Amino acid sequence: MFLATWIAFAAVTLGAEPLASTNDSPKFLGATSCASSGCHGGGGQNQNQFHVWSLKDFHSQRPFATLTTARSKQIGDALGIKAPTTDSRCTSCHAPLALVPAARRGEAFKTSEGVSCESCHGPAENWLRSHTRPDWRHADRTAAGLRDLKSLYVRANTCVACHQTVDSPLLKAGHPELTFELDGQSASQPRHWREGTNASGAQAWLVGQVAALREMSWQLSRERDPDSRLAARWSALLWLLQRMDGLHSTLPKLSGISGEPAQGNFESAIKATDELARRAGEMDWTRDMSRAALRALVGTESTFRKTSTPALQQARQAERLVLALDRVVKEGKSKTPDKVEAKLDELFKQVQSLPDFDPAAFANALAEFSRALPGGN
Ligand code: HEC
Ligand code: HEC
Ligand code: HEC
Repeated sequence: MFLATWIAFAAVTLGAEPLASTNDSPKFLGATSCASSGCHGGGGQNQNQFHVWSLKDFHSQRPFATLTTARSKQIGDALGIKAPTTDSRCTSCHAPLALVPAARRGEAFKTSEGVSCESCHGPAENWLRSHTRPDWRHADRTAAGLRDLKSLYVRANTCVACHQTVDSPLLKAGHPELTFELDGQSASQPRHWREGTNASGAQAWLVGQVAALREMSWQLSRERDPDSRLAARWSALLWLLQRMDGLHSTLPKLSGISGEPAQGNFESAIKATDELARRAGEMDWTRDMSRAALRALVGTESTFRKTSTPALQQARQAERLVLALDRVVKEGKSKTPDKVEAKLDELFKQVQSLPDFDPAAFANALAEFSRALPGGN
């Protein structure tokens, strides 16, 4: 069931042909359709989305330009790809409109748009004219096909489709490893929406990480000869998210899944994580849950004191843990105290080079971080 959902989702995001069972295949109209000055191309506060995206957002210029660099040529050569700018193995994420079939291209459509409005908000044909109707509510717009990016689950699925899974042959050819993290990556994207509509902190972090684990499980379950780093990264993220079991009684738990990389475990993880991401995204999150998440994360010191675990595995766990602490501790609008920032920097330094990882030193740094927290001792 899940796989079918994912494929349907990918078909929408990446513009591939829809499933045979759907006859709904709206056209992509192009960013300029959104850009008139009375709409999203104005200078006003809530009308400047086109300018923010085209001038500041790396999604408009960089993804396609990257495919023309020497590094892309090198990756392409290793894979027998002649032109990365037109090969679907690269354009699927770096120039997704290139995959939209001719029949679904509107008049103003340009494949050079990079990751464009409709790559995230969905193809516009069915809702472009009506989404501004004053009598329409958010639910009416999403029913017409405007993707519900206010939902953290839907948002995570949108971003993760391009930000986590790189097929192993590409990784082996030198494509950078991708790490999806919804909260931090949402904060880095130049914001073209109103303050407050972007839920942040621990909830976004959790939904994003669970979606990332689902995608990793899916990749491992289907690839015959996965890149050797993938299984280690998967086990580490599963370990981390199992620390979140018990945050809330309505959330499914992951502790029943073994961290051994094996087909059955990948399949159990796909199902459990999809359900968890959905429920965590929809629930009313509380400050207490964020505090409990932080406590569970800093409570992992003993994992790094164990001498029986291979250091590289501990390094992968530590890497993921630090990324988590960085988001969960920055919850809310108040500034993180300087001494907490300093201890966090120290933790980041400890995971900079995985081959040199020192578990005991990391455990000490984690204990110091914990003591620096307000109320720590
Ligand atoms: C259709 C694919 C696609 C989608 C969907 C997408 N991105 Fe990206 N994004 C990219 C590509 C490709 C790059 C890399 C640009 C480059 O360096 O060539 C990128 C770059 C970024 C970067 C800067 C590099 C980094 O990792 O720090 C951030 C941040 C980012 N995206 C956040 C997001 C968020 C948040 C979402 C969801 C709301 C999202 N992206 C959706 C393809 C996508
Ligand atoms: C699953 C989506 C996806 C696919 C497919 C993909 N990329 Fe990427 N690529 C990304 C994202 C996202 C980034 C940004 C990583 C970051 O900055 O964190 C990236 C980064 C890169 C970079 C590094 C850019 C930099 O400035 O550091 C190069 C080079 C690159 N991609 C080339 C390619 C080539 C060539 C192909 C095809 C063989 C390809 N990519 C296929 C998503 C993808
Ligand atoms: C990389 C993904 C991405 C791209 C590309 C993108 N958006 Fe968005 N957009 C988002 C997200 C995430 C939100 C926040 C969801 C929310 O709160 O409604 C958003 C929100 C919006 C909003 C709601 C503003 C508000 O304050 O309620 C508008 C309007 C919008 N985008 C228009 C555009 C237009 C026009 C373009 C192209 C010029 C564009 N977006 C490109 C991801 C994207």
